[in-house]
Amino acid sequence: MKLIRCFGLVVILICFAPALFAATKFSVATKTFSLNFEVGSDGRLYQRAVGGADANEKLLRTAESYPQAGDGYVWEPALQIVHADGNTSTALAFDSVTRTNDEFGRELTQIKLHDPAYALEVTLNFRADRERDVIEQWTEIVNHESGAITLERMASSALLLPPKNVYLTHFFGDWAKEMLSPITEQITPGTKVLDSKLGVRADQFQNPSFVISLDGAPSENSGRVLAGSLEWSGSFECAFDDNGENIHALCGVNPFASAYHLNPSETFTTPKMIWVWSANGLGEMSRKLHSWARDYGMRDGHKTRAVLLNNWEATGFDFDFNRIANLFQPAKDLGVELFLLDDGWFGNKYPRVNDHAGLGDWQPNKSRLPDGLAPLAAAAVKTGLRFGIWMEPEMVNPKSELFEQHPDWVIREPKRELELQRNQLVLDLTRPEVQQFEADSISNILNVPDITYAKWDCNRYVTQPGSSYLAPDRQSHLWIDYVNALYALMDKTAKTFPDTELMLCSGGGGRVDYGALKYFHEFWPSDNTDPTQRVPMQWDYSYFFPPMAIASHVTHWGNRPMHFACSVAMSARFGMDLDLNKLSAEDKAICAGAIAAYKEIRDVTAFGDLYRVENPHENYRGAIDFVSPDKTRAVVFAFQLKDGENVPVHPQGLDPAKNYTIHELNPAPGRAPIPQEGKTFTGIELMRDGITPSCSKAVEASVIELGS
Ligand code: GLA
Repeated sequence: MKLIRCFGLVVILICFAPALFAATKFSVATKTFSLNFEVGSDGRLYQRAVGGADANEKLLRTAESYPQAGDGYVWEPALQIVHADGNTSTALAFDSVTRTNDEFGRELTQIKLHDPAYALEVTLNFRADRERDVIEQWTEIVNHESGAITLERMASSALLLPPKNVYLTHFFGDWAKEMLSPITEQITPGTKVLDSKLGVRADQFQNPSFVISLDGAPSENSGRVLAGSLEWSGSFECAFDDNGENIHALCGVNPFASAYHLNPSETFTTPKMIWVWSANGLGEMSRKLHSWARDYGMRDGHKTRAVLLNNWEATGFDFDFNRIANLFQPAKDLGVELFLLDDGWFGNKYPRVNDHAGLGDWQPNKSRLPDGLAPLAAAAVKTGLRFGIWMEPEMVNPKSELFEQHPDWVIREPKRELELQRNQLVLDLTRPEVQQFEADSISNILNVPDITYAKWDCNRYVTQPGSSYLAPDRQSHLWIDYVNALYALMDKTAKTFPDTELMLCSGGGGRVDYGALKYFHEFWPSDNTDPTQRVPMQWDYSYFFPPMAIASHVTHWGNRPMHFACSVAMSARFGMDLDLNKLSAEDKAICAGAIAAYKEIRDVTAFGDLYRVENPHENYRGAIDFVSPDKTRAVVFAFQLKDGENVPVHPQGLDPAKNYTIHELNPAPGRAPIPQEGKTFTGIELMRDGITPSCSKAVEASVIELGS
């Protein structure tokens, strides 16, 4: 072992001559989790199953780490390459492992492998966040051969799981049903695949986040669980390959129709896969991931979010300057801080008055906004509100000036009739002119004075993958090159407009993934804002994403009582999508009370720890609580979905010894005060005896503050 100093950081480099391969062991470790590797006598890299498999067991070929296709490996490979000479097999041997301390508690481990018969270098990268038991994993493949090689499969990660009793929880759900159907199933021999082939977003059906549990079906406070979440906003594949002896979790870009040619000296870097470990169930797993996300997974994770009013549900496409400006004062009076103007503000030759026309023509519509966006944004600011804007930069309607001028700029297959979704097409971001056009469109919009917030939408996916820019033998690059160009655009936007907050949206929750979220402040989880649906939906999203990133708007979907709708929105990033001029006085008062209460507790719900207490999928009620980092304050939410007894909710995570005074926030009109109102109890008493909420009937809610 050699110890070398590199750029002021300590790097440990372990190099092995082939003769020393036998029984060489090393780990990538966090506080309570480790990935254990071993170099076999054949020089290949093997892995011990996560969760503590017997380290003395014989190394089987099925336990190969990052397995490669061919040369004896007959199961699902992580890497499949066609070499320059046509050989379809790869056989990687271990070279070295290096460790670098990125910052305190964050260590990068790089395992270098190479194929002795070919000039091919593969590096497995692991960035471990020690305290939070988070490991980000990705792979770099470098072609040093004399000709191009073709990557047929190139997973980010190929974790080895124990052979038996492994459960997978994953989330299916079409538009307006995102995350609503969690499915838990045992992994059995064969290959279980979660994937999408949508190109420009990861999800319309299957979310790229899941949970693996090693002690039966997962539960909140016990059992070993491992969350997986792929940082990729395009077609993905997570294959759980159970060959009877071992299970590999192979996650990465979807190899479907994505053969990628790598020229000599080129490097392919896979997206990152996030793994989060907990030996104490889903609750601890989520809290660790939320804490990591606030630091590394999203923008400005330590800043509170403004109360937002959106006009989409209120006006749809039917508005002009005055109709929007008339919403500002009532919004301000209610306590709103930020106004978001949605779709419908642009297009002149083909005005965007419905979803049939105008996408791509990002000039303000002259009859709706005669002097452009700036006066409207200024009017909002004058009223005391910030101003935000909707955009969908990647799309075009055939009925647009852009399409008339550049029909070849869209993703389409030659000789096939154009297929529209929501009357629109996807612009081909692999084309440099399109990259420039989208960057300019975004800059023009965000450079309008007083615009400090934007919603970035993406309302269709790819159904006819073809690019008139890419060469015929590079058509299969479209899937990957599109997403990488998209990230370059998002990165540029975030860097050029560091003070502009961004919401990530894709026809609802089509792009809820950590690949895109790092450029955004929050995401739109679903167009479905019925609060009875949002309770289970937000519960499921919270396995992976901090509630401060989950935009939750009060609307009239489902026609639920205003108090219930407001209470649900208060448990995530609060917003509204209502015509305030049409609200009854009683509903206005409920909204004003909710906004005032939200402002009081938003530091706790944003930066505190989330405890999921009563599962709304299983009970007549859903309940959660948040505890501030110093444990001096907490907030309990109870959401009644069906009639049922108002038995106490038992909050978790409180300081047993601390005193908490109980106060129901913005109580629903006409309901009796809760029995513990105004009284003080210790944390241990509250966790043991519970707090009785004021709700007992369907669509009632109770939000209770525990203060010190
Ligand atoms: C998508 C979004 C909605 C709204 C519309 C506008 O459906 O999810 O919130 O912005 O587009 O066309």
